[in-house]
Amino acid sequence: MLRCFIAIELPEEIKKSLAETQTALKKYGAEIRWVRPENIHLTLKFLGDTEEEQLEKISANISEACRGFKAFSLKMTGLGVFPGMRSPKVLWAGLNGSNNIIDLQKGIDISMAHFGFKPEKREFSPHLTIGRFRSLANKDALLEAVTSGKVKNQGSFEVKTVALIKSSLTASGSVYTKISEALLAKP
Ligand code: 2AM
Repeated sequence: MLRCFIAIELPEEIKKSLAETQTALKKYGAEIRWVRPENIHLTLKFLGDTEEEQLEKISANISEACRGFKAFSLKMTGLGVFPGMRSPKVLWAGLNGSNNIIDLQKGIDISMAHFGFKPEKREFSPHLTIGRFRSLANKDALLEAVTSGKVKNQGSFEVKTVALIKSSLTASGSVYTKISEALLAKP
């Protein structure tokens, strides 16, 4: 079994800009495990345990689903936390691309149901996880900076491809390897 997920990868300049945002946030002293910038991505569907023999068919299905959607742009829209301010676990950069990203995620979600991956019950909330809270120590100043917009996070990028990615858990953290890449239709 492989641990897999389907995601949109980010251009280098967006990862660079997210790294700068992380640097600006670090000075608030919260206990956060920062996601390495090269690992930041937009998860469309977490598959989890996936049989290696299925990967080719899964890739073909993702390609098929992607052909039905045109490439579009996504805009970063500030920072926030999940599940809420009182007990935050995930620190994220929000994304907005009108309905395009919502429709694409839904298309992928539905196509993965053929393989027994359960459709998501929760509404999709497009975000880039940039850090995970290790504790709640010193969280308040960070949360204030995030919600007041004191630390900004801006930029936009074109979404032209969707990747199937393998995640390997190693002693030094997750290592992501791209298995295949599907193209969206020309805009
Ligand atoms: P998120 O951090 O973007 O919310 C790769 O591990 C990605 O899959 C992570 O970035 C995470 O999304 C998502 N993920 C990991 N474990 C998950 C789980 N058990 N259920 C849903 N999504 C998960």
